[in-house]
Amino acid sequence: MSLPSLPEVPGTEPGRCVLDSFRISIAKRVADALGPPLTVEKVYEGVDYGKKGVDFTIALPRFRLPGKIDDLAKKVTESFQADDFISSVQHDKAFLHFMCNTASLTRAVLTQVHTLSHDTPSQKPEYGSNTSGKGKKVVLEYSSPNIAKSFHVGHLRSTIIGAFLANLYQACGWDVVSLNYLGDWGTQFGLIAVGFEKYGSQEELQKDAIKHLYDIYVKINADATKDESVKTAAAAWFRRMEDGDESALSNWRVWRELSVKKYEEEYARLNVSFDEYTGESKVGKEWQDKALERLNEMGLISDIEGAKLVDLEKWKMGKAVLRKKDGTSIYLTRDIGGAIERYEKYNFDKMIYIISSQQDLHVSQFFKILKLMEFPWADRLEHVNYGLVLGMSTRKGTAVFLDQIITEAAAVMHEQMRKNEEKYAAIEDPEYTSLEIGITGIKIQDMAAKRINNYNFSWDRMKSFEGDTGPYLQYAHVRLASVARKNPEIFPLPPPSEIDTSLLIEPAAREIVFLLGTYPDVVKTALKTHEPSGVVTFLFRLSHAISSAWETVVIKSEADVEKKKARMWLYLCARDVLGAGMRLLSIRPLDRM
Ligand code: ARG
Repeated sequence: MSLPSLPEVPGTEPGRCVLDSFRISIAKRVADALGPPLTVEKVYEGVDYGKKGVDFTIALPRFRLPGKIDDLAKKVTESFQADDFISSVQHDKAFLHFMCNTASLTRAVLTQVHTLSHDTPSQKPEYGSNTSGKGKKVVLEYSSPNIAKSFHVGHLRSTIIGAFLANLYQACGWDVVSLNYLGDWGTQFGLIAVGFEKYGSQEELQKDAIKHLYDIYVKINADATKDESVKTAAAAWFRRMEDGDESALSNWRVWRELSVKKYEEEYARLNVSFDEYTGESKVGKEWQDKALERLNEMGLISDIEGAKLVDLEKWKMGKAVLRKKDGTSIYLTRDIGGAIERYEKYNFDKMIYIISSQQDLHVSQFFKILKLMEFPWADRLEHVNYGLVLGMSTRKGTAVFLDQIITEAAAVMHEQMRKNEEKYAAIEDPEYTSLEIGITGIKIQDMAAKRINNYNFSWDRMKSFEGDTGPYLQYAHVRLASVARKNPEIFPLPPPSEIDTSLLIEPAAREIVFLLGTYPDVVKTALKTHEPSGVVTFLFRLSHAISSAWETVVIKSEADVEKKKARMWLYLCARDVLGAGMRLLSIRPLDRM
């Protein structure tokens, strides 16, 4: 069956999103019926998803045409002719509702999913991707913990959302550079150096650098509050570091390296990676000095007892210190210099910082300063922020390290799975499985709502297989994988052209097909909003549709082999899309549990 030919509409990619064709077909009918000045492109923008069983809807008033809405609607309905794309139109007040031809919809969607999907999870999701970012480069900075301080849930959120955005931009054809901007510089390293002389142990350091440096930091900080001389010694030490004194730097270098190594292992467990571990220590002096000079010329700098402050009151961004009394640099100045260096290095079309909303002011300050410095690329910077996570502590107390969070998630999940002895006995690798499901639980809870919302973390919800949770999603994927394993006699399936999709007549099957068709749009929308929640919502809708199909779209007890094959194909396509969506969220879909 070949579908009628259609005009091209800029921004659409029917070869990757077949629903684009159905929308273009609607747009063409309406544009033809209503005539100029309306164009296919213009109508296309107004073809929205319908509600309650309607495929697509157009709200006529949006075109601001002369004449009565009823008359306009009549023109469309009277000239309407069903074809292989669209089977019906219905006029309801200001709206026109359209239904797609089920047979061609089913065939077109499943064929596209089949053609563009990969079964191997290591491959990037293909169905759902588009080429809108082709030739463009985006730099993404996320996670960015501080060496020797705790890895808090805020860093975890940045890691999870950042990994999602990296996958998303890649899926949309962008060239992605991912950076982890470590907090590896600043006065606290002077403090730790002093602390290391007093409390440091090479053995502990080799065992777990992140933990040991943190312990030292806590101890020496306590000392510093009681003893002023500790602070003075720390400041002097950091001064030497800033001056490039090798004797003051050699220990620090080892700490950084060991910490990165440990982090890399943990990120790998989370299915997260970076192209580069950069950090505050890597930002050169040159641009930090120039920034100060430039702002000084603009009359925005005031000198308060030797410290340099920039006055951003005019833009309601307060006053911010750019340089300390002793001349050492600070966080804000390093972000300014860092951005300039990154532009010189990467020549990006866009750079996104994934940083907690607690730092909104800081980010708006350094973005503003870069604009004041008149860098033409300053408006290519974006801040993706997010709210707080409340109440994520382990049973032993507050989690301060990433590995504690991961271990706890795995343990909580493992315990939960043990409760069902029979099922537990059937799990091949309970350690791995509980770790993956636990991590999925954390990620889903994190991405389920709009980023900016604070949320209360709950271990009970994380581990539950009921409701919209990570374990539920993994379970839905496992069930799709197992239906294939349980019906080996119908494999290998014939090529798509030989599968009789007209046998898929159940409403539950159509529901799944349509949802699969919408996935490329879900990806597109996520790119606009930078919200993972839309993808999460989609995956739950799809899982629910699949779970309600099990009763009517059966395989095992179906006598007709052709029907069995068509249904199996539907489920395999559903699995591909569910898996693609999960991978986009950085989740590894499981085939067994
Ligand atoms: N290391 C910082 C912190 O933990 C976050 C860094 C965010 N990125 C940046 N370019 N300022 O608070």
